[in-house]
Amino acid sequence: MERFVIQGGVPLTGKVKVEGSKNAALPVMAASLLIEGRCFFNNIPKLTDIEVMSKTLKELGADVVDFDGKLSIDASSLYQEEVSCKLARKLRASILVLGPLLARRGKVKVALPGGCNIGSRPINLHIEGLTKMGSSIQVEDGYIRAKARSGLRGAEIYLNFPSVGATENLLLAASLAKGKTVIKNASLCPEVVDLCLFLKKAGVKIEGIGTKLLTITGVKEIRPTSYSIIPDRIEAATLMIAAAITEGKICIEGVQAEHLEAPITTLRKIGVQIKVDKDSIQVERLSKLKATSVKTMPYPGFPTDLQPQITSLLCLAEGKSRITETIFENRFTHVSELKKMGAEIEQKGTSLLIKGVSFLKGNKVLASDIRGGAALTLAGLAARGCTEILNIKHIDRGYFKFEEKLASLGAKIKREKS
Ligand code: UD1
Repeated sequence: MERFVIQGGVPLTGKVKVEGSKNAALPVMAASLLIEGRCFFNNIPKLTDIEVMSKTLKELGADVVDFDGKLSIDASSLYQEEVSCKLARKLRASILVLGPLLARRGKVKVALPGGCNIGSRPINLHIEGLTKMGSSIQVEDGYIRAKARSGLRGAEIYLNFPSVGATENLLLAASLAKGKTVIKNASLCPEVVDLCLFLKKAGVKIEGIGTKLLTITGVKEIRPTSYSIIPDRIEAATLMIAAAITEGKICIEGVQAEHLEAPITTLRKIGVQIKVDKDSIQVERLSKLKATSVKTMPYPGFPTDLQPQITSLLCLAEGKSRITETIFENRFTHVSELKKMGAEIEQKGTSLLIKGVSFLKGNKVLASDIRGGAALTLAGLAARGCTEILNIKHIDRGYFKFEEKLASLGAKIKREKS
């Protein structure tokens, strides 16, 4: 077990570059299962979640070559349709093999997915959509077993919530299905758009990209394609908050600022100076932080994946803030840990009421999920004294060499064996 040891109180300064987006890379990797031939992907982050997806694809028979941020995947000769429980339980995105395997092989067996423990995370929308497309699906003994004896066919599917994963799974399934699939109330998030652009480049006909109404016309064959993944908007915004919480000044390079409108607007409201250039963002904290209200919403709203990090920041804002989590019901594991550091937070249902304090104190705290772990790291960077973050394997699932990036900006942070 490894931990971060942080001596807080150093303002971050300098330049830093963001990695490719994990949540965009995972569905595009799953898309390679639809394709006979070798695809080449650039800007793949070197994260444990990506490794688990690579192993999953290998287990199914794909040839995966990983070389310094580049990945090539050839799924010409798949030899099985079953993902072992060991792999599926490590990664929520393992559910994304469902659509492609049903479309390509007509059957699939995969254990119910794992990933961050941030709520019950049902998969009914995936199942309902794929059932409408002609598959029969059973969920029993912790496994999803699905078949599409006569192949998948296009269907009209309304999602009663714009689920990111369900939109992606249905897009993947629809790409090789017979006829036209219409997805209504699709997710608008940049990672879904990235998957659409990959599939389109590979020859799938998709209309309405970036809107709530996606129309996909399935094709018989999808051509091998090379593609570069978008920058990680969540990593970029986490670094922005790191600059803000330490009263620093940093420049974040390689970002797509148009994906960050809600976090930028919120940070400006809190009193953080932000200058947006073509592919970089400068963040500077000159004044006191102001309390505010934040509500997580599907994209383009404020991302749930930044709720823990903004919570850390608002712990140090003057006045009373309110954070409301509307996407996941159990995304507050960082709260008890922040309280150990002196934060004044009261949880009321799905809201957090935060009374700003003038400083946080270092303590020993436990990371329980990716973003919660990042939030505690940010709190440690700002706190007086020494903070130890335990269980950092969670942080490694979503942030590549997080401590090295922060150290390159001046932070006093080390990785140690517990
Ligand atoms: C993805 C992201 C995750 C992010 C989340 C929301 C990846 C690998 N993960 O997760 O980082 O926090 O989007 O932006 O890309 N729901 C249902 N039924 C379903 C599917 C979802 O009720 O069949 C609910 C979920 O319980 C949750 C909400 O919809 O409350 C959002 O889930 P969804 O958008 O599907 O998130 P993921 O794709 O799992």
